Amino acid sequence: MASQGAPAVHPAVQTSKSFTPRIFSGIQPSGGLTLGNYLGALRRFVEKQEEGIETIYCLVDLHAITVWQDPERLRHQTREAAAAFIAAGIDPARSILFNQSQVTGHAELAWILNCVARIGWMYRMTQFKDKTAGKNAENSSLGLLAYPSLMAADILLYHATHVPVGEDQKQHLELARDIAAKFNHDYGEEFFPITEPVIEGAGTRVMSLRDGAKKMSKSDPSDQSRINLTDDADTIARKIRKAVTDPAPLPESVEGLKDRAEARNLVNIYAGLAATTPEAVIAEFAGAQFGSFKPKLAELAVSVLAPISTEMNRLMRDPAEIDRLLGEGAGRADAIAAPILDRTKDIVGFIRSRRG
Ligand code: TYM
Repeated sequence: MASQGAPAVHPAVQTSKSFTPRIFSGIQPSGGLTLGNYLGALRRFVEKQEEGIETIYCLVDLHAITVWQDPERLRHQTREAAAAFIAAGIDPARSILFNQSQVTGHAELAWILNCVARIGWMYRMTQFKDKTAGKNAENSSLGLLAYPSLMAADILLYHATHVPVGEDQKQHLELARDIAAKFNHDYGEEFFPITEPVIEGAGTRVMSLRDGAKKMSKSDPSDQSRINLTDDADTIARKIRKAVTDPAPLPESVEGLKDRAEARNLVNIYAGLAATTPEAVIAEFAGAQFGSFKPKLAELAVSVLAPISTEMNRLMRDPAEIDRLLGEGAGRADAIAAPILDRTKDIVGFIRSRRG
């Protein structure tokens, strides 16, 4: 199902009905964005925009509050995430860019889907298990458990057919397909598309710089484990220099990276940043020591990321303009969502009266 090597222009998804190709994806503004978000998601979002498909991108603030967020920080992080999208190449005139809570249909459809999805499906999600591991799961928010149902609503509210994400979201997207299929089955109408995950390229699973077995994450307590999109050139270079590696030189082929998680991660990051393949990186650096590979990687990372952080800083000087752009995006998103939500309500059997 993962669309490795999917065609550049996606075919319309077929149930018995065909749906117009439409891309939707989201990022939580629950912390500063990382290199993982950039390579696994943001960079791919820009590629999809350039392919000329309709693209809708959402800062999922409703998802963010499934764990506690300080209100002022949430507002700041949402603006900063919007700035990151624009700085990375999302054009708010061509893509729709908005924050989720401004389009109330997300929460409304999520409720309907909560009544379609089964509780057991939610308990099986590895992300829920990870986020509650070592804690009292009974004491986590109800929203954290229902999180994937809101995610299904995000996608289905726009009849999105393709969703570019990193590896870690694959299980949630499979659940979104199950929820759509159950809705269609229960109500006897092929109303929602069965969405295709798009998980492509070298950067779909960027790992921590401190531990090759852990995902690079904005919520990791160690700042050394990740590169933030706001890091300056010196910080990026230092974090790469200090990244954990083994003492062996880079192998002659990618198979030689199999049991070398940290080395593999740095090669994948290089490939992602250079928009090439791990094979091509190994062909160039076979036999090199990390002492020479890391400075090359740092130079590449700075050349790609420093212009983004400079542009983010510039955009963040005018928060009112960011808010205006998000509001405009929300208006355009709502115009697509409203008729789909109305039709969903009709299918479910809700009365929609004209209000005087
Ligand atoms: P979030 O905010 O955790 O991550 C946003 C996107 O970044 C990708 N990503 C990574 N990719 C590669 N390596 C990493 N280390 C890495 N860390 C994060 C994620 O896979 C994701 O694509 N539930 C989602 C947000 C969401 C969503 C949606 C996505 C809400 N509704 C609808 C798609 C469609 C999440 O928490 O992503």
